[in-house]
Amino acid sequence: MLIYFLFFSFFFCTLIFLIWFFNDRKFISSQSVSASYDSWTNDQLLEALWGEHIHLGYYEKYYKNKDFRQAKIDFVHYLVQWSGLDQLPKGSKIIDIGCGIGGSSRILAKDYGFDVLGISISKEQVKRANQLTPNNCSCRFEVMDALKLKLDDRSFDGVWSVEAGAHMQNKQLFADEMLRVLKPGGLLALADWNRKEYNNGKLGFIDNLIMNQLLNQWSHPAFSSINGFKGNLKNSIYCLEKVDADDWTKFTLPSWNDSIIEGCRRPMIWIKLGPKSFLKGLREIPTILLMRWAFSKKLMQFGVFRFKTFK
Ligand SMILES: C[S@@+](CC[C@H](N)C(=O)[O-])C[C@H]1O[C@@H](n2cnc3c(N)ncnc32)[C@H](O)[C@@H]1O
Repeated sequence: MLIYFLFFSFFFCTLIFLIWFFNDRKFISSQSVSASYDSWTNDQLLEALWGEHIHLGYYEKYYKNKDFRQAKIDFVHYLVQWSGLDQLPKGSKIIDIGCGIGGSSRILAKDYGFDVLGISISKEQVKRANQLTPNNCSCRFEVMDALKLKLDDRSFDGVWSVEAGAHMQNKQLFADEMLRVLKPGGLLALADWNRKEYNNGKLGFIDNLIMNQLLNQWSHPAFSSINGFKGNLKNSIYCLEKVDADDWTKFTLPSWNDSIIEGCRRPMIWIKLGPKSFLKGLREIPTILLMRWAFSKKLMQFGVFRFKTFK
């Protein structure tokens, strides 16, 4: 009996590993990113597990028990405070670039009184963001490419972007577009997944293999380093002020394990969404574990960026 069980477990794990390793979701163009998010939104799995925030949480003390969803809400407030966005008056116009299903946008509107426009490349996310937003919440959502913003120069008091930059093929254009729409005196608050600095030595064979899987599994063209992206912001023709960056890896790292544990904490999800979703969930586990490993070994870093333009 035990031998059958071991054989079946080994067979099952190998199958999941092979599907994961060979059946990736490579970045081809921004269309491949929108197709991935459309499908992740329609199958409801990501929202059932991660809630309305598709980003990591903020944990004050390493491995202290904290509710994953509360950690995500806290992350938004910490980034608002760190970037100084809370200094802007109520009614300030904010753009949330790569807004997902609007988790951050709604907090910025409800808790800080901002007038928020959320944009995403995924039309299904925009549809879902609108469904989740009550009428009295001052935010609206539009499908738009962050690399081709159909918005006037200097039209926002603040730019907010969380974990979207890794999907952008042209990081300089991404920085230029964000700063172009920012008013003089405006603020930028950005968080992203970054690779280790290029001057810390070349990647070895194993690190390269891991990095390729991290890029290919979730439709990322490239990760910039923290200093690399700081350079993109500084080099922008719109940049007139000092850019600050920090590494929040230690505050966000517990999110990776929590995002797997969430599937055990909420078993009803699997009954509601069915066996296909369960297999889809299992398929994400190797990437989540690899991400956690890469962040814990400093192959990846969680970068935060803030910036204020001159009046
Ligand atoms: C990891 S999710 C983060 C979502 C959201 N910021 C949050 O924290 O919940 C990445 C987001 O970036 C968006 N995105 C990726 N490439 C984009 C592009 N070229 N233009 C606009 N949005 C893009 C995706 O559609 C998705 O909403």
